[in-house]
Amino acid sequence: MHPLQCVLQAQRRGPWASVSWLLLRTCRAQSSVHGTTCPGPERQQENGVRKDFSSRLAAGPTFQHFLRSALDPQEKPDVEDPPPYLTVDELSGRQRKVYLETYGCQMNVNDTEIAWSVLQKSGYLRTRNLQEADVILLVTCSIREKAEQTIWNRLHQLKALKTKRLRSQVPLRIGILGCMAERLKEEILNREKMVDILAGPDAYRDLPRLLAVAESGQQAANVLLSLDETYADVMPVQTSPSATSAFVSIMRGCDNMCSYCIVPFTRGRERSRPVASILEEVRKLSEQGLKEVTLLGQNVNSFRDSSEVQFNNAVSTNLSRGFSTNYKPKQGGLRFAHLLDHVSRVNPEMRIRFTSPHPKDFPDEVLQLIHERDNICKQIHLPAQSGSSRVLEAMRRGYSREAYVELVHHIRESIPGVSLSSDFIAGFCGETEEDHLQTVSLLREVQYNMGFLFAYSMRQKTRAYHRLKDDVPEEVKLRRLEELITVFREEATKANMASVGCTQLVLVEGHSKRSATDLSGRNDGNLKVIFPNVEIEDVSNSGVRVRAQPGDYVLVKITSTSSQTLKGHVLCRTTLKDSSAYC
Ligand code: 5AD
Ligand code: SF4
Repeated sequence: MHPLQCVLQAQRRGPWASVSWLLLRTCRAQSSVHGTTCPGPERQQENGVRKDFSSRLAAGPTFQHFLRSALDPQEKPDVEDPPPYLTVDELSGRQRKVYLETYGCQMNVNDTEIAWSVLQKSGYLRTRNLQEADVILLVTCSIREKAEQTIWNRLHQLKALKTKRLRSQVPLRIGILGCMAERLKEEILNREKMVDILAGPDAYRDLPRLLAVAESGQQAANVLLSLDETYADVMPVQTSPSATSAFVSIMRGCDNMCSYCIVPFTRGRERSRPVASILEEVRKLSEQGLKEVTLLGQNVNSFRDSSEVQFNNAVSTNLSRGFSTNYKPKQGGLRFAHLLDHVSRVNPEMRIRFTSPHPKDFPDEVLQLIHERDNICKQIHLPAQSGSSRVLEAMRRGYSREAYVELVHHIRESIPGVSLSSDFIAGFCGETEEDHLQTVSLLREVQYNMGFLFAYSMRQKTRAYHRLKDDVPEEVKLRRLEELITVFREEATKANMASVGCTQLVLVEGHSKRSATDLSGRNDGNLKVIFPNVEIEDVSNSGVRVRAQPGDYVLVKITSTSSQTLKGHVLCRTTLKDSSAYC
């Protein structure tokens, strides 16, 4: 058998030409290429298993197997038939314990629950104790180099754990999931011989098979990107029963191709989950008593459900004024305004948020709905990235500073009191001191309530990597970043000061981390609000005095603020419907 068994599927997807592959690699490949001795006496029993497995693997999957794996996820049976080289027993988790560790954004937190849901169905158990794990899976991020460095460091620590485990004859399996698996593919297997499996963001359904292959001592990878995988039927497991809020994934991938960003390469093309399946999940969460749902996606407001032919007759919506796309305009499908409308009707006592949107997709119908509907939070994340039109063009963001500022004014007119947040990158290719000052001035002009600020990190494969020069020295990037952070804090403090004396509706989350006598919750703008845990009146039961519990709405009179937190005293317990006491 060839030491490197792989199925290569080169897929031409317009400008997205990419090679996606499934890879199974024998240990022999490692020893011949890298001179490692393989395996020690403690692995002899495993060797026998591998021999038997290898002969089955040589027979390879059948054509029917490929046809079945190409089925629409909705049509797939709950428990997959094993491929011909695995038995049902080998494919099952057999109560092995999985430890999952998440890095990066909220999408990764959600992906962790999807991966866990798949593994749970397959007979795995979950452990929160690293020491007792049989399988350790890291859900990784590639957005900046620092994020990847953290994973490499972690892998070195896990290596020691695995080596120790080998001596005690209970082999520990280590897997890399998500963006880093997708970006680096085989490089991870070559660099870190201890990694047993790789699964890209669209390959979590394949985890049981990959782990079964790994059990025989082989490395296994699936980094195939999909055009339609949304994990619509994989309901993430609600892991914290006391939680007040949940994230619901509504779309995956990104078609924007901003020149600095690796996401379109690691997470693939944009695709949306069918509205019906989203509503089903939101209804379930509402029945479980959750009070807040955040709709999640890389470009959440570019949502477009085209899963049924009749949806393509739906009226097309426009882009925000002065905004353009790097791709051919898309037509038809059920759009974000439709989804937001239906999700917010599920339970009027349930707050709805969404992240992360792109500024190009804020047509009037979305703004109108946010304004009208009490339970849609008046909070919009509007990633600007830079305040310089020249830099925005180099970033291929599809708007100028002027168009962005006009949108900010339009949003503020349409949704009075809206709270705004943004992402900015300091030191992008070719950014001059003048460009940087333009960003400083945008921060002053808009006065955001929240901000996420980053130093530029060049990523291979991106357009900037191929066409531009990473010419801003590291120390200049960091100095500019510090300046942006200082200005953002000053402006956010001023913006938050405006709420002193106001009464705000707060969803209680639990005890404050800093003080046992205080409670903590979030206002409509998603800012943290701290207030003393005292007895209060319940407006729905006049005369009854209660203490606020997680999941309760309370009215809090704001008395002081910083750039990130508000403090106040609590007035009463209320409902979302009854609270009209805004400033
Ligand atoms: N370097 C620095 N920041 C980046 N972001 C995306 N790619 C990069 C990069 N290469 C930031 C953007 C984006 C946020 C999620 O991460 O601000 O909005
Ligand atoms: Fe990256 Fe731009 Fe897509 Fe956001 S919109 S994920 S920054 S390519």
